[in-house]
Amino acid sequence: MPKFTLLVTVALAALSGACSSSDDGGPVQPSGGSSGAGGGSTAGASGSPSGGGGASAGSAGAATGGGGGSGAGTAGSGGGTVDCTATPASLFCAPLGDMPASIQATGLFPSAPDLTQHSASLLEYVPDPPLWSDGMEKQRFLLLPAGQKIDNSERLQWAFPEGTIFIKTFFDDSGPAGASRPIETRLIRLAKNQTYEFFVYQWNADGTDATLVVKDIDGDINVRTPVMVTINHVVGGQPLMINGGQPFEHTLPSRNDCGDCHEKNGMQAQTFIGFDELRLNSKLTADAAKTQLQAFADAGIFSQPAPADAATITDASADGGRLLRIKRFVFGNCVTCHNGDSVFDMHPDVFVENTVGKPTESQSVEPPEGWLRVVPGDPATSVLYVQMQRTMLPPEVDGKRLRAMPPIGLADVAVEQNALKDVFDWISALPK
Ligand code: HEC
Ligand code: HEC
Repeated sequence: MPKFTLLVTVALAALSGACSSSDDGGPVQPSGGSSGAGGGSTAGASGSPSGGGGASAGSAGAATGGGGGSGAGTAGSGGGTVDCTATPASLFCAPLGDMPASIQATGLFPSAPDLTQHSASLLEYVPDPPLWSDGMEKQRFLLLPAGQKIDNSERLQWAFPEGTIFIKTFFDDSGPAGASRPIETRLIRLAKNQTYEFFVYQWNADGTDATLVVKDIDGDINVRTPVMVTINHVVGGQPLMINGGQPFEHTLPSRNDCGDCHEKNGMQAQTFIGFDELRLNSKLTADAAKTQLQAFADAGIFSQPAPADAATITDASADGGRLLRIKRFVFGNCVTCHNGDSVFDMHPDVFVENTVGKPTESQSVEPPEGWLRVVPGDPATSVLYVQMQRTMLPPEVDGKRLRAMPPIGLADVAVEQNALKDVFDWISALPK
């Protein structure tokens, strides 16, 4: 599991556009946890067990930003250096420029393979609930153009400034002696005219550099890149092993795949999925003083104060929190597509109503007679459970088709077992 404990290199001054150098050392930026929540834990793990010694991104900013913020709004406060003559393609120097063929040239991870070192202007966060991705650990950053804020007045649909970049790196455990190793880094950029661009860098075996393999709408937008990964680490004190700890195939999504989730997701088609009021209403580390939402608000990255009644997922069942965990998992992993637009709605408030005792209404999923999305007391004939299990592939029962869910982004061997067990137990306990 990656531990992000280190500090600074590049800085914000560069973002101002001028990219002049400055000789000040940058602010010491304790990097937040390694995103344990993104990887192993189930939905229930609010507050993210991401451990690591880091303070939260937001509070780190508040603590170090003298002028009142980390990165974003106060480009000048950080100091630090970016030599734009040496690295003109750096995303700090040219946030809207061509995406370089090598990640080294982006300037994002100047100390690779040590990704614990990153610019202080990269704001780390962990969405809660996260997306489960083959059990991989993730590290996520927001890079806002200098001096710009996020307009959060529409609570369900924040407006991001042009040049906003989100960066998400996936790690497995295939480094030396089981150490974590970067596998892929995904980027989404809000370019001019409200156009969103999607990119993927694939890391080399040493983790020293990564090559651009998905370059938005350039080339074949359907090409997926298979890569072998190993998952065998501890999350929140629990071992997490997939495929018996043996390598299995993880797929770097195609450009088209990005759109299937990012261009029709549950928060009213927000392309940036994981950075919203609900998902930031959680602490980056267990000992953080504030929620990430509050910390970022205090750091000055929003147009409006954080609301006192920040969005959250609730459930009153007396089942020890099981249905709450399920709703949270489904929100993080299914609602991106199942938002009631093209596919049936599984938002937390309608999840039970739209699944229990309800038949499928689908073009492409045809369960056998008598099966329903959720059959009370019987997981084995509940389409939702069976599809989450992914084991009925090729998906055919009595000549009828089922489909593994989610349909993309997950290896069949890498089902999130805690969530699956919760769903099994919940359906089993429903009165027939
Ligand atoms: C199966 C659905 C799915 C697919 C496919 C997918 N993503 Fe995402 N992505 C998510 C979800 C959900 C989040 C937010 C939760 C998280 O980060 O754990 C996210 C977060 C991100 C983030 C962080 C910013 C944000 O939107 O929250 C980046 C960057 C990103 N994805 C890039 C990509 C790129 C590039 C592709 C295609 C190569 C891609 N994703 C494909 C579901 C998906
Ligand atoms: C990338 C988008 C996407 C994601 C993510 C996704 N699904 Fe689906 N799901 C679909 C599509 C598309 C269909 C088929 C719809 C159709 O044919 O009309 C479907 C069908 C289903 C069906 C059967 C159709 C019905 O009417 O009952 C179930 C149940 C289901 N999904 C559950 C889930 C669950 C549970 C998750 C999360 C663990 C999930 N899905 C994640 C896209 C997605």
